[in-house]
Amino acid sequence: MSEAKRLAGEKAIEYVEDGMIVGVGTGSTVAFFIDALGRIKHRIAGAVSSSEQSTARLKQHGIEVLDLNNTGPLSLYVDGADECDPHKRLIKGGGAALTREKIIAEASDKFVCIVDPSKLVPVLGKFPLPVEVIPMARSLVAREIVKLTGGQPVWRDGVVTDNGNVVLDVHNLSIVDPVAMERDLNQIPGVVSVGLFARRPADVVIVGGEPPKVL
Ligand code: A5P
Repeated sequence: MSEAKRLAGEKAIEYVEDGMIVGVGTGSTVAFFIDALGRIKHRIAGAVSSSEQSTARLKQHGIEVLDLNNTGPLSLYVDGADECDPHKRLIKGGGAALTREKIIAEASDKFVCIVDPSKLVPVLGKFPLPVEVIPMARSLVAREIVKLTGGQPVWRDGVVTDNGNVVLDVHNLSIVDPVAMERDLNQIPGVVSVGLFARRPADVVIVGGEPPKVL
């Protein structure tokens, strides 16, 4: 599987143009993209990072990490996913970086999602849906999620996000209307963000393989 991740990550380099500031996601697939980006770092103006983990790797390669507040809109965002449906709608947040990932996806003209074939699903929801929550609202949000979705939220114990919050993973969902579920969960007070990327899906999906497939 890591070979498929590497092939997807390296293929995404084809979307990087000279002088770009590149939005960079988080995870093991993105790590391969960052390593490939390091090899062409002289061609780019820098990166905006979605996590402390990716920031550290970008800096190891000598790539300048910029503040999104100073860059303005980005042309390109490259990130992985935990699940991807046929409409390029995603579940993300397995690495707890969903909020910053969502911010950068929103700020970007093109979102290129890099996955191995195991991430492709007909319907989202087998992978437990991550929801980032303000710590004091954890129990309240969990109860509301049960009422709204019928799913089972499980506190990702011991995990604190880069923003100082906690994560609930919602099990046993079959998400037939991801746009509606994203909207409804976002309304619960205490929810910071939902790991559904449906309102703003990926624009391009690269599935790692020999050769990689571009959807
Ligand atoms: C990070 O919070 C996630 O959204 C990742 O993009 C996702 O978990 C994919 O990770 P891998 O590339 O490690 O499978």
